[in-house]
Amino acid sequence: MTTYIPGAARLYGAEFAADPQAVYAMLRQQFGRVAPVEIAPGIYAHLVIDYRAALDVTTNAGEIWSKDPRPWQAGLPDTAAARGLMGMIGYRPNCLFSDGQAHQRYRRVISDCFAMIPPHRMRELVIEYADRLIGAFAATGRADLVSQYARLITLHLFNRLFGRPDKDSAALTASLNGLMDATPEQGEAATAAFGQYMSDLLHSKYERPGDDFTTWLLHHPAALNHEEALHQLILTVGAGNEPLVNAITTAISRWLTDPRFAASLTDGALSIHDVLQEVLREEPSMANYGPYFVTRPVEFHGRWIRPGELVLVSYAAANTAPTVLPDGPRSDTGAHLGFGAGAHRCPAADPALLIARTAIERILTLLPGLRLAVPRAELRWRHGPFHRSLAELPVTFTPVRPDQPGETPWTSSPPPSTPTAATSPANAPDCAPPATS
Ligand code: HEM
Repeated sequence: MTTYIPGAARLYGAEFAADPQAVYAMLRQQFGRVAPVEIAPGIYAHLVIDYRAALDVTTNAGEIWSKDPRPWQAGLPDTAAARGLMGMIGYRPNCLFSDGQAHQRYRRVISDCFAMIPPHRMRELVIEYADRLIGAFAATGRADLVSQYARLITLHLFNRLFGRPDKDSAALTASLNGLMDATPEQGEAATAAFGQYMSDLLHSKYERPGDDFTTWLLHHPAALNHEEALHQLILTVGAGNEPLVNAITTAISRWLTDPRFAASLTDGALSIHDVLQEVLREEPSMANYGPYFVTRPVEFHGRWIRPGELVLVSYAAANTAPTVLPDGPRSDTGAHLGFGAGAHRCPAADPALLIARTAIERILTLLPGLRLAVPRAELRWRHGPFHRSLAELPVTFTPVRPDQPGETPWTSSPPPSTPTAATSPANAPDCAPPATS
């Protein structure tokens, strides 16, 4: 395990959650490109906070760098804090924690199964769930877009893609909520409950195959055994859900408070795609992740790293690190690392963007007068070393009601005594076609 280093910054408390960029800046000044951090009580890691250094790690995976956490796990103390991290960094036979051919085999299965879902089908599903969820709170004029929207839409979606009935998504939601916080109690219980949902899912598809992600995965030519299939499924929803929720809600919070975006649904200055790219660069959902380990002792950008020590890549800090490069051509593209880089870059970046864009588009299109219920600076961020994640996103809007079939999709709720025609000019702005991005 990584031993204590003076000056290690704590990444799991309220202070870090309130202003992570201040912590990255302090670390940069004190340590340079790689800095010591504490990710849970008594558990230390090296955090890569520089863009080039982050590319060095992610694009060299498989040579000096390995994704297999077992040597690190072997050196961990037997504490609740260490066990709580296993949901995020405990070894499983999946593509995230494998190298070389094993990695390629697992990754191919996930990529191929995603490729089976036509983008228009994915979009239709997102719209279906978005409209249903928005319909549940549209008449109230206020909502928390984390718990009432983003968190539910992604889990409904995964549950359906996996081939399960909608009623089963509640079990998924309950188990996943504790995973990313990495508090000891939540981490352990959530890992067990999540595993149970996935195990039930697989057994149901052995018995009744369908036209769904789970069945394609089970029948893939890579011929995964039961354990391997289980872990690719767990990874798919584990790696997919939280970053999606965070990207959707952080992007909406920016859209509603930054005039460059707020104006653009009608004047087209900046699109939903733009706000998502900005979030992935400046406040990426997976802020500090990409667990890596060295296969031999190396001096890396001024720091000695030994086998059995944890290295995390701060995609958030690397993306925002001041560059010392001169203007002109550069060997990297300068692209953001919000989806990671190299062999382990997110294999679902395109579907993820489609899902996020559609979910945001429905909210902005269907809820007139949408605004944050508190100033953005007062929004609460969840504590935890790995993610940039809003605890709530309280919003207010003009109450609207779902229309009857055959009418325009949504209309502002008329005052009870003065009914308003659904197609009257007063309602026109509420019924604007979805924004393109
Ligand atoms: C906006 C949403 C998303 C973001 C920001 C995101 C970000 C990332 C990042 C940073 C990595 C690299 C992790 C590492 O370096 O170890 C990654 C890997 C991965 N992501 Fe995503 N992701 C998103 C959505 C999804 C979705 C929707 C899925 C699947 C349903 C998914 C599945 C995966 C998998 C399987 C990996 C591991 C790839 C490998 O190790 O080869 N992600 N993602």
